[in-house]
Amino acid sequence: MESKTVAFVGLGVMGYPMAGYLSKAGYSTKVYNRTFAKAQKWQDEHQGIACETPKQAAEGCDIVFVCVGNDDDVRSVVYGDEGILAGMKPGAVLVDHTTTSANLAVELAEAAKQAGNAFIDAPVSGGQAGAENGVLTIMCGGEAAIFEQVAAVMDVYAKQATLLGEHGQGQRCKMVNQICIAGVLQGLSEAIQLAQKSGLDIEQVVNTLKHGAAGSWQMENRATTMAQDKFDFGFAIDWMRKDLGFCLEEAQRVGLELPLTQQVDQRYAELQEQGLGRMDTSVLIKALEK
Ligand SMILES: NC(=O)c1ccc[n+]([C@@H]2O[C@H](COP(=O)([O-])OP(=O)(O)OC[C@H]3O[C@@H](n4cnc5c(N)ncnc54)[C@H](OP(=O)(O)O)[C@@H]3O)[C@@H](O)[C@H]2O)c1
Repeated sequence: MESKTVAFVGLGVMGYPMAGYLSKAGYSTKVYNRTFAKAQKWQDEHQGIACETPKQAAEGCDIVFVCVGNDDDVRSVVYGDEGILAGMKPGAVLVDHTTTSANLAVELAEAAKQAGNAFIDAPVSGGQAGAENGVLTIMCGGEAAIFEQVAAVMDVYAKQATLLGEHGQGQRCKMVNQICIAGVLQGLSEAIQLAQKSGLDIEQVVNTLKHGAAGSWQMENRATTMAQDKFDFGFAIDWMRKDLGFCLEEAQRVGLELPLTQQVDQRYAELQEQGLGRMDTSVLIKALEK
């Protein structure tokens, strides 16, 4: 392993364990989190330094990773006097793991270039468990030579990292991922309801079907908890609505209709109105109960 100094900005459900993998792999690691107590906790549990600002975290680093919430959250840690770009050394690379619009990826690539840095958009899939077990799928956009540099480091928390094209293509691949998840969850919600009403045992159904053609990550990881009415974990509806918004915008841009995505998005909007915005996306089954 090359001796690299790295920073991780955003120690949420995803970022906290991802930053941990960098530290455990021996990279000299600095972290920043808006709520400092989380950065302090991370520092207590890992080798590394908790910083007071994104700029401080970025200073002297070869690669700065970000994983925050939405487009504006990313802007708030990247730009400004205390932002990442103000601290990055020339030639360093900014990698954004946040799920954002493709437009933001293009904007950040340009801003990084102006500052003498490089950029890769790198949204992830695999959920909380994927981050905690270091087996994320990473979808990247940017230049090949820069991708090669950062892929070697991201390897510590990735099962697979793929370059899909220019800046923004990583985010567009993530949109495809989210459309697939919306469809699978809608199907799974209907399937579980039918199974329950028909007197089938869900665990037995999952164990029977999971290795066949209907098997999926959602079936293996969510069917049982859906049947048990457990949703207080995982990937929040609030995030999924942001992501489906990007999908619908992109569809409009290329002149496509996405009827199922629109329908699932509408159901999530209703669930948000009921105060379930922080619940896992598998709570979709609740929207079918009326
Ligand atoms: N959770 C998943 O299963 C999953 C899977 C794939 C992709 N993602 C994507 O990964 C990203 C992070 O998700 P997550 O589940 O880790 O979210 P999360 O647990 O809510 O954490 C969000 C992190 O971003 C920070 N943050 C938010 N707004 C900020 C701002 N304006 N300025 C500075 N920091 C800010 C938060 O800081 P505080 O601690 O101060 O709140 C926290 O560290 C999202 O884009 C999400 O769509 C999530």
